[in-house]
Amino acid sequence: MRRFLIAGNWKMNTTRQSGVALAGELAAVAANYDPAVEVLVCPPHPYLIPVAEKLGGSAVQIGAQDCYFQAPGAFTGEVAVEMLKDCGCRYVILGHSERRHVLGETDEIINRKTRAAISGGLHVILCVGELLSERQAGQTEEVLDRQMQGGLSGVTEAEAEHLVIAYEPVWAIGTGVTATPEQAESAHEHLRNWLASRYTPAFSERVRILYGGSVKADNAETLLGQANVDGALVGGASLKASTFVPIIEAACKLSTRT
Ligand code: 13P
Repeated sequence: MRRFLIAGNWKMNTTRQSGVALAGELAAVAANYDPAVEVLVCPPHPYLIPVAEKLGGSAVQIGAQDCYFQAPGAFTGEVAVEMLKDCGCRYVILGHSERRHVLGETDEIINRKTRAAISGGLHVILCVGELLSERQAGQTEEVLDRQMQGGLSGVTEAEAEHLVIAYEPVWAIGTGVTATPEQAESAHEHLRNWLASRYTPAFSERVRILYGGSVKADNAETLLGQANVDGALVGGASLKASTFVPIIEAACKLSTRT
């Protein structure tokens, strides 16, 4: 069975003080959910080190929200994979819709970052998802296929073992509008079938596919209860322990269900 991954994407939020305090609260409770649920936080780059120090040897993992694909060198403002590893990161989020649609990242850039991150020893959470206009035009699966094909171009099955997919419909991010469990499951099933045909069916069964987009305590259990939903990538609700921990609890409850 795939182990649930509940990941908090803090985006460009928190201060050093509030981020470290949140990490401390999560570290204190994470052992209650380990090993049933893997918990991850992805703070802004400047807070990676103090947050990692606070998490210490706890069950909470740390990841980054982006990286660059080049080795260290003359790339002003960018952060290399080995720097993230040096800060204690185990994961990196790539291809988030805000990077695609606000910062203009292409599938080609996301692919270069994905390959660099995996070969540098990080696990990649590759985000894919359609715009509202694309869903309304019936293009959801076509968009997902294009983003998967582009993002994973040249990535072998052995490399893809270090991959997590996050389905984040853009219209559900930060809007309070969540995909219905049926919409999420349908997209996740499509993504798993894509992985089965691009790689192998056995491999596709091992890959975790997270849902992201207005996940909250009150909708987590139904979303996580879908057969192909293996966790959540949480934005707003990951910024407070009081809203994030219930999502971890929902995953824990489902994972022990027979
Ligand atoms: P919200 O949970 O705030 O909708 O954000 C989702 C997201 O983009 C996580 O990466």
